[in-house]
Amino acid sequence: MQIFRILLVLSFFMIHSNAQSQVKPDAKLTNENLYRPRFHFTPQQGWMNDPNGMIFLNGQYHLFFQHYPDGTVWGPMHWGNATSRDLVEWKEQPIALYPDSIGMIFSGSAVLDKNNTSGLGRGGVAPLVAIFTQHNMPGEKAGRTDFQNQSIAYSLDEGKTWMKYAGNPVLKTPNLKDFRDPKVIWHAPTQKWIMNLAVADHVELYSSPNLINWRKESEIGKNLFAHGGVWECPDLLSFNVNGKTAWVLLVSMNPGGPNGGSATQYIVGDFDGHTFKPYSTDIKWMDYGPDNYAGVTFSNVGDRNILIGWMSNWNYANVVPTEKWRSAMTVPRELSLIKQEVYSKVNSSTNSNLLTNELLLVSNPVKELNNAFTEIISKENSIPNRIDIKDIKATDFEIVLSNTYNEKLIVGYQEDKKQFYIDRTNAGVSNFNQGFAAVAVAPRLSFAMNMDLSILLDKTSIELFADGGRTVMTALFFPTFPYTKWEIKSKEKMPSSYMKLYSLK
Ligand code: FRU
Repeated sequence: MQIFRILLVLSFFMIHSNAQSQVKPDAKLTNENLYRPRFHFTPQQGWMNDPNGMIFLNGQYHLFFQHYPDGTVWGPMHWGNATSRDLVEWKEQPIALYPDSIGMIFSGSAVLDKNNTSGLGRGGVAPLVAIFTQHNMPGEKAGRTDFQNQSIAYSLDEGKTWMKYAGNPVLKTPNLKDFRDPKVIWHAPTQKWIMNLAVADHVELYSSPNLINWRKESEIGKNLFAHGGVWECPDLLSFNVNGKTAWVLLVSMNPGGPNGGSATQYIVGDFDGHTFKPYSTDIKWMDYGPDNYAGVTFSNVGDRNILIGWMSNWNYANVVPTEKWRSAMTVPRELSLIKQEVYSKVNSSTNSNLLTNELLLVSNPVKELNNAFTEIISKENSIPNRIDIKDIKATDFEIVLSNTYNEKLIVGYQEDKKQFYIDRTNAGVSNFNQGFAAVAVAPRLSFAMNMDLSILLDKTSIELFADGGRTVMTALFFPTFPYTKWEIKSKEKMPSSYMKLYSLK
């Protein structure tokens, strides 16, 4: 089999998978089976945006999400809910939190209050506490500045039902319009809860002994890092790097992303329970693609940092051509921080580059996802759901997915520019938004001679993890008919001893 694979790769300038029999659209080709992802979470119906309150508890992963159940465009926000035992299959659950007189339920997080610091536990049951923004629409419409405040709710039955805290809101806005998206973590050294809050152009850190009384500790980000849009959905994560703890602050920002619209930047630094001190002021992106936003990590998963992002972009999220639901989540991704040599521009006037040692945030699909796929060897199979290629020479190549309508999605690499790209200029339906049909680019961040790629393909999304997750791109596409053919094109041969194709089990 190995020989077959080597031959397959060595012999090509082009690989075809020719399941290209006479395909004609038929009546069975509903919007549902054309566009409903197979291994990315979508709500059965209605609108979804940011992942919220993600937490692992007694063998179950809990995903809450920004949800408007009564329409397929953004509307009065609820927290929808889904659970999974394996991070692959999600079961949608009844809505967890409904809007109330204080406001809609905007983004936030959830923690397990093991020691019942909040006093909200009963009969020895540790409460699950959700911390979220309540957005008061009448207040906003009336031109007030106090319409975003932080509230809490608690659950004593593992997230099935929630009680809102009677003393809400627990953290009132100091009359700042953008004051939202609390992500709370337990900081063991200071024995305090730490809340990261997005405040227009910076992140504010608050601490609390009990999740109810909050005190401001510090802020970070004004005039530093990317500021093409409003800062939203922060997250503060710790990593063990060679025995030392380093921290990463994730900050989503809309617009101003590297390929337009929404995107997530990250900042590496130290955190002592009070202030976050960045190691550098470089601008770095967690994912260069246009469609990974508002990503945050699961609570209560030990040393792991597992992120899910909203797989869309505010530029067009409300108008993508799905009918019954809108938006999907990215696959869960394992984040790690690695030391590697990267170029940093030391002198913009001479544009000279210097090699420095830096910490780089890398993302890869969680290992649990491997269980979802089975290897395919037959070329008869149509589009694989996953393509893994290892140890290829860094040379120009394109992987092209296409259908009989001449629609094409291209993911490729350009060695002279040292950049990856995803070209969806002619990938299918795009008239819903002017900027959608574009080429997104991302720098290669590895200096290794050879590269490896892992590509996940679902009905309307591609996720590229290059060089062990150093460069990541996520992009949506909407073909009018499913892609039925794929090929690899390259000027030079792409010698590789390893290519594996997988389809969903
Ligand atoms: C990010 C965001 C958050 C907000 C939520 C509202 O996509 O704008 O800042 O809490 O969506 O749905």
